[in-house]
Amino acid sequence: MTGRGTDDTALRLQHATIGYGDVAIVRDTDLTVRRGEAVAVLGANGSGKTTLSRGLLGLATVLDGTVEVLGAPVGRLRERGRVGYVPQRHTISGAMPATVREVVGVGRLARLGLFRRLGARDRAAVADAAAAVGLADRLEDPVASLSGGQQRRVLVARALAAEPELLVMDEPTAGVDAASQEALATVLAGVSAAGTTLVVVTHETGPLAGVLPRAVVVDSGRLAYDGPLAGAEALAGTGGHHHPGEDEGPAVPGYRLDQPRPAPDAVRVRDGSR
Ligand SMILES: Nc1ncnc2c1ncn2[C@@H]1O[C@H](COP(=O)(O)OP(=O)(O)O)[C@@H](O)[C@H]1O
Ligand SMILES: [Mg+2]
Repeated sequence: MTGRGTDDTALRLQHATIGYGDVAIVRDTDLTVRRGEAVAVLGANGSGKTTLSRGLLGLATVLDGTVEVLGAPVGRLRERGRVGYVPQRHTISGAMPATVREVVGVGRLARLGLFRRLGARDRAAVADAAAAVGLADRLEDPVASLSGGQQRRVLVARALAAEPELLVMDEPTAGVDAASQEALATVLAGVSAAGTTLVVVTHETGPLAGVLPRAVVVDSGRLAYDGPLAGAEALAGTGGHHHPGEDEGPAVPGYRLDQPRPAPDAVRVRDGSR
């Protein structure tokens, strides 16, 4: 975090329109996130949360306006590994013979550059990242032998291992049991306290609420709210984000703004295209 300029802005979107091909999904968005902030991205299914987060990684196209990440136009960061990413609904292929240690190590390689060997400091970072997600005792196990929730935790560890300055996570708690969600919240609190900027897409603010004081709500491709997380919850409570056909079930503790739903396969494949 040192020696990389005095700008304390982690993210700056100005009139940013982000999409795929020439199709605009997230439109005319202004958003500034300072270094060290921790921001929840909330919103109904299909509102554009994943597109927004992928736009921060250079995985979706900036069609208009500007997106600056850590002081540089998105996609032009000289050093990889400064931005960590946990994609949505991405688990590791069952055919992949790699161990947990190897997959988490890939995150560390992103920081070093490919074809450089992990040193002692890197190996320690890999072990620490695995421990942080509760998988210290599974380092030598094939990832294919882990449950879906555990595989998601491997991907979180892979992102943590790079010790990124900005960590973007797309529904990191989806499909993860309650105890693991609490554990992840503790990990993110530590990472945040150490100065890492967090942008976390989530539909379930219960365990993460204490870690993410600020929230933005995406509604039909536009930012409908930017402020304290509690205010976003109140906004959701008014029914301001009702969409026709949405489930009208009773409010549940740790309410959900965004019910999980199966995504088209093509979208899922592209989600994992990093
Ligand atoms: N790769 C893609 N190509 C074209 N359209 C896409 C792609 N991915 C998502 N979309 C569309 O963008 C819109 C927003 O999707 P998404 O960003 O995944 O929303 P959310 O994460 O909030 O559920 C949806 O209408 C979806 O169909
Ligand atoms: Mg999504």
